[in-house]
Amino acid sequence: MRCHPAAALGACCLLLAGPPAARAHAQPTTTVQFDREIVHILDNHCVMCHAPDGLAFPLVTYEQTYAARWKIRQDALNRHMAPWGAVAGYGVFANDNGLTQREIDFLSSWAESYGPRNNGQVYTGIAAAAPPPVQAHFDFSRWVLGNPDLQLPLPPTTLAPRQAATIQHATLDPKLTADRWLTGLEYKPGDRRVVHAVSFSVRETGQWLGGWTPWHPFVSLPPGLAYRLPAGSHIVADIHYYGAAGAVVDRGSLALHFASTPASLRAVINLALQAKSPVTAAAGSRKLVAAMTLEQDMNILALQPQILPGVQSIEVAARKPDGATQILLFARDIPLDWPTPYVLAKPLPLAKGTQLSVIEHYEAGAALPAAGIVLALSACPGTELASEPPPPRRALSPSPEQRFKLTGTVKSVDAGSGRVLVQHGDIPGFMGAMTMYYSVGKEADLKALAAGDEIQSDVVTGSATGPALENIKVIKKAH
Ligand code: HEC
Repeated sequence: MRCHPAAALGACCLLLAGPPAARAHAQPTTTVQFDREIVHILDNHCVMCHAPDGLAFPLVTYEQTYAARWKIRQDALNRHMAPWGAVAGYGVFANDNGLTQREIDFLSSWAESYGPRNNGQVYTGIAAAAPPPVQAHFDFSRWVLGNPDLQLPLPPTTLAPRQAATIQHATLDPKLTADRWLTGLEYKPGDRRVVHAVSFSVRETGQWLGGWTPWHPFVSLPPGLAYRLPAGSHIVADIHYYGAAGAVVDRGSLALHFASTPASLRAVINLALQAKSPVTAAAGSRKLVAAMTLEQDMNILALQPQILPGVQSIEVAARKPDGATQILLFARDIPLDWPTPYVLAKPLPLAKGTQLSVIEHYEAGAALPAAGIVLALSACPGTELASEPPPPRRALSPSPEQRFKLTGTVKSVDAGSGRVLVQHGDIPGFMGAMTMYYSVGKEADLKALAAGDEIQSDVVTGSATGPALENIKVIKKAH
C-alpha cells in the first residue's frame, strides 16, 4: 500500500495495523454517540439488511455495533457498505443508500474513540425508570405505500443450502378483465435472508415496472403518472437469490396500487439503450457505447443498467440541443451482488433533439453478449411534469423509539382500529396538550378502557404506525 506522507497518516497506520490496541494519536473522545448519530445511520442505511433473520449479521444493539466497529469503519471508509454504486454529485436518486461524507466521518470517529454509547446519563430509578436501551430498528411488517389495492402471492421457491447466486423468474396473474393503471408497487420477500433484488416487468408488453431492493422496497410513480397493465396481462418477477446456510423456501408477495382516476393520467413507457460495438480502449479495457436522439420531449424517471461481471464504470449522459451536457448517472465500483435501479429524485425533463448516451467500461477479459448490454430507462413522453415537492427522503425508517409519560382522559375507544382518543396535558419533549388518537398494542388494555376514564400511560414513539400507549393505568374510572 502506498500512502501520501502528509495525507491521513493515522488512517494508513490503522489500515496496516488493523484494530489497534494502543495508538499514540488516538483521540480519546468524540461527540458522536451510539444513541444519537450512530443509531440514526444504522436505521437509515444498514438495518434493512443487518437484522436478525436478515441478509447479514445484525447491527441493531449497541453491543453488536460496538463489536463490529473496526470493520464498520473500514467498510464505510472504502464505501463498501452500504452497497451503492452511483458516484455522489452526478444526479440525485430517491433510492440512494450511499453514506454521506458526514456519516462516514461519524462512523469512523466513533470507532476510533472507542464507541461511546451515550453521554453517560445515570438513571437513579427514583423519579423515572431507566428507558429501554436505544436500538436500531426497521419495520419489515408494514407496507410503506399503505394498504394495496391488490396483493399477489408469488409461487414458493426452494433454495438448497449455500445455493450459489441465481435468478428465478415468477409469473403472476393479476386476473385483470380490463386495462388498469398502475401507480405503484411494493414487494415483501418471504425470507429476507436470501433475496438481494427483484425486477418487475409486464410479460405481454415488455414494460419495465421498476425494482425492489432491501433498502427501497417499493416503486411509486410521481402524481399523475402510471404504467398501463392491459387486460389479461401478467407481471414477471426476476428474483435475485443468494442461498443461506440451510435450505430456504421463499414465498414473497407483491402489492399493487391502481389509479382511481385514469382519465387524466400520463403513461410511463420504456426506453432502452443497447451498449455494444466494443472498441478496445487504451488500457486494454473494453468500451461499449450506445446513443439515441429523442424524437419528442421526454421526462426521465429511472434507469436500470444491466451489470455483468467485469464492469468498471457506467456513464449515462444527455447532450441537449443547445450543446450542454448533463450526466444522469456515473457509477463505478458497482456492487455486482446488489443490482438496483437508479430512481431519479425528480423527473428530468429533456427536450426533443436531446441525445441520450451510455458509455460502459468493462475489463478486457469480460464475457459480454454480442447483442450488447441493456440500459433500461423509464420515461414519460411529453412536456415537463408539474414539479411536486420532493417526498421526504426517508419515509422508510421511523426514528428510534422514545418513551414519554402521559396523563389524560379517554374520549373514545375505537376497538375496530385498536385506538383510543385521549385528551391529555403537556407531554414534555414530545408535544403540547391536545386531543389525539393513540394505538393500544394490547387488546386486554383496550378492552379495559372506557370513555371518561382518567389514565396514566407511557407513550412510545418511533413505530411506523404512530405513537402507541403502553403500561396504561386507570387512575380514575368513569362512572
Ligand atoms: C443491501 C444490504 C446491506 C446493507 C444496506 C448494508 N449491508 Fe453490510 N453487509 C451485507 C452483507 C450481505 C454482508 C456480508 C454478509 C456477512 O458477512 O454476514 C455485509 C457485511 C458487512 C460487514 C462485514 C464485512 C467484513 O469484512 O466482514 C460490515 C462491517 C458491514 N456489512 C457494515 C454495514 C454498515 C455499517 C452498513 C450501513 C451503513 C451496511 N453494512 C449496510 C449487506 C448489507
